[in-house]
Order: sequence, then structure tokens, then C-alpha cells
Amino acid sequence: MPFQVVVGAQWGDEGKGRIVDWYAAQADYSARYNGGDNAGHTVTVGERIFKLHLIPSGIIHPQVVAVLGNGMVVNPHRFLEEIEMLRQADVPVTPGRLRLSFAAHLITPAHQALDAALEARRGKASIGTTGRGIGPAYTDKATRRGLRMADLQAADFGARLAEAVVEANRSLDLLGAPQLDPAPLVAEFGEYARQLSPYIADTSAELDRALRDGKTVLAEGAQGTLLDIDHGTYPFVTSSSTVAPGALTGLGLGLAAAREARVTGVVKAFQTRVGAGPFPTELFGDLAERLRGSGVHPWDEYGTTTGRPRRVGWLDGVLLRYAVRLNGLTELVVTKLDILSGLETIRLCTAYRSGTQRLAELPFGPSDLSPFAPVYEDLPGWQADVSGVRAWSDLPQAAQAYLDRIGELAGIPIRLVSVGAEREQVVPAP
Ligand code: GDP
Ligand code: IMO
Ligand code: MG
Repeated sequence: MPFQVVVGAQWGDEGKGRIVDWYAAQADYSARYNGGDNAGHTVTVGERIFKLHLIPSGIIHPQVVAVLGNGMVVNPHRFLEEIEMLRQADVPVTPGRLRLSFAAHLITPAHQALDAALEARRGKASIGTTGRGIGPAYTDKATRRGLRMADLQAADFGARLAEAVVEANRSLDLLGAPQLDPAPLVAEFGEYARQLSPYIADTSAELDRALRDGKTVLAEGAQGTLLDIDHGTYPFVTSSSTVAPGALTGLGLGLAAAREARVTGVVKAFQTRVGAGPFPTELFGDLAERLRGSGVHPWDEYGTTTGRPRRVGWLDGVLLRYAVRLNGLTELVVTKLDILSGLETIRLCTAYRSGTQRLAELPFGPSDLSPFAPVYEDLPGWQADVSGVRAWSDLPQAAQAYLDRIGELAGIPIRLVSVGAEREQVVPAP
């Protein structure tokens, strides 16, 4: 199928980067459609561990053209840094295979300063953002004063950037934060304009052409369904459309692209979240420590972008069904199954209870989950290490039963199971 969207079915960090890398072996294009360097997508290939924040995870495959879509907000400094990181790791990056939409918005240090100041102002009610300037950049986009990649080439770009910094300074002043000096930023961005120019393109038209030519386009969501600006646990969300339909607007594709799309939801075998907000199945104490890991492995649950410990809990089937509906998922990929090896019992939240009521679906979206207590089904765990398993029939019976129950709850098939961070550590479903 020519168009595939890979989207996080939870609160991000489901292993999307690793799964995009897997599917990108067969793809012509790998495209990000939302967010910016708040994302941290890890791809492990042998000794090399790539932590990608902006550039789509498919870039590591040499035949792939990587696209940063119009729905993104891009920090040019981080973009250039990431190109350099890839080149250092022997991944060839040329303008021929890295395309940046002219309509993607710029993130400037003013956005980062505002992000920090707004979070400080919220105090105890802070969202726990990544501090990358994401919210303020999308605010400027929505209020129609943002600067886009196409503007970098304009004769008056310096003046417009200076004006944007002066505008940001008014807000920073009100928030009690230090002022920024526009002059060095104008000089710095003048240099970015020169360096970014070969990558800037009409990516909407290019992707449309690619799909018409029968090429395979793999869209990569950042964050996850429950962090979506409209459908997530608002206000504890990010500022973009993270769900699969966001891939159409965020890449500039029409509904025709979705007609036969494969929509792959990546779901961790348990549940994690970084930052504040509701989390009904959250665990604390020894079991939480056990699932999080102590930080000795690269895959332990500490933020790829910020290094913060992730909150952990049992898989939430109610929220998973919500993700299936909102994204129109056609299939699931379950990651980190290996982490559950050695547990006596695995709990799976199959419904919520509110008073005497049992609810299999969310009655009113996920923003206020405080009235609900999870209803758990207890399944037997397994002791064997599954990280070396490559065939479904070699998975312990209890692991197969757990996966079957996830598929049943979601109402869609599981296509692939990941049992380790390494590229080849996957088990195709029968
Ligand atoms: P993303 O944001 O969805 O791309 O996920 P992250 O890269 O932020 O976090 C996922 C982490 O888990 C990374 O360190 C991955 O290398 C790692 N990972 C992905 N799949 C698996 C898996 O099946 N098992 C283990 N142990 N680690 C995995
Ligand atoms: P990937 O793509 C997990 C969270 C932040 C915070 C909220 C808002 O790696 O899955 P923002 O900086 O976007 O304004 O922060 O969203 N968040 C993520 N959590 N994975 C991510 O990306 C995230 N990107 C943002 O922790 O709670
Ligand atoms: Mg991540």
C-alpha cells in the first residue's frame, strides 16, 4: 500500500522511530507531519544509536527521501546539528534526500524563552513541556505572525525577525523574564537562511507526485494520540495534531491519499507518560521502578529529549480503543514486550469504573479522567527472556495470550511485536 501512517497510540515514546526504521526498508519517502524537536525518536542499528528529533527516522535507509512537512515547527540550529550528527555516523544527507517544506514554521530562541517563562508562570500547574518552544511557535502560527521557511529568503526577513523578537520581549517582560537582543539573532538567522535554502521545497507537491507515481510514503507521527491538541488529555498535551488524520494536513495531502492508507498504531506493552496530566493506570513504588528501569540500558524509561524519568503504568485498553477510533488504526505494533518478562502477573485495564457504573468507552473524551478507576484483568506473566525470539510460535504461551487479549480489546490485528531496541528484534504476527 503506498501510504502508511505510523502513529503513537499512547502518550508518546511508544517506539515509533524504531518501527518507522523497520518499515522504511521498503519505503521511498519518510515524512514527519507534526511537532518539532520535542520529539525524540530512537533507532538502534548495531553499535549506532540515533536519537532523531526533527529528521524523519527513515533517513537511515539510503534509498529514502526524508521530508519535514508543513505541519512542523523547526528549530534551524537543531536541524543543522542533526544533519551533522547523521553525517558523522556515515548517513549521507544531501538536499536531494532531505526536503523541508517552505510552509513549515521557524522556531526561534524567543519561542524557547517564552516556553520557559510560561511554564515558570504556571508553577505547580505546569504542563511539563520539553522547553523546545513548541507551544509559542504554534501560537504564532495560529495568530498568523509566524515566520516560515519561505520567509528566510525574503529581503525583509531580518526586519521581520527583529519585530518578532520585540513582540516576544513584550510578553517576556510581562512574565518577568529577561529580554532578548534582536541584533545577534538576526545575524544568526541570516546564516541559517543560507544553510537551509538548498533543503526548502514544495513538499506537498512532491509527495503528491510520489504517490501518483506509485511510490511508498511513510508518514511518522511525533508524540502520541493522547497528546493531540484536540483529542488528547487537554491541556496536558502538545500543540499539534498528532493523530493520523493530521498527516494529511501536516503534509499537504488530500483525502485521496487516505483512501487505502495503512494506519499503524504503535503501542507499548505497558503505558508511559512524561510530564503532567491524568494517568489512570499509573504505578508507583517497586513495580514502577521495575518497569522504568534504573537508567543503565539505553531503552530504560527516561525521556529521549529531556532525560526526565517517565511515569509508568499498566496498559490502558480503554485509551487504546479511543486511539483506534481517532486514528482509524488498521493495525497495531506492540513494542517493549521484552520488558514484561519475569513478572508474575500482568494487569491489563479493560474498562473504567465510576461509582457502580462500568464503562468500556470514554463517555466524554480523555481530559478529565479523575472520576474513573481502572478495572483490571489479571493475566499470567512469563519468565523466559523473549528478546531473542523471532517467530510467534516461539513466544511463551502467556505472552501470546497477553498479545491476543490486546488485539481483541483493540478490535484490530497486531502485525508486529518488538522484543528489543535493535533493528532486527521483531516478531511478525502470524
Ligand atoms: P519514540 O519517541 O516513539 O520513537 O520512542 P523513543 O525512542 O522516545 O523511546 C523508545 C525507547 O525504547 C528507545 O530507547 C528505543 O530504542 C527503545 N525500544 C523500542 N522498542 C523496544 C523494544 O521492543 N524493547 C526494548 N527493550 N526497547 C525498545
Ligand atoms: P515523541 O515523538 C513524550 C510531552 C511533554 C509535555 C507535553 C507538552 O518522542 O513520542 P511540548 O514540549 O510538546 O509543548 O510538551 O507533551 N511531549 C512528549 N512526551 N514523547 C514525545 O515525543 C513528546 N513530545 C512532547 O513531556 O508533557
Ligand atoms: Mg520519544
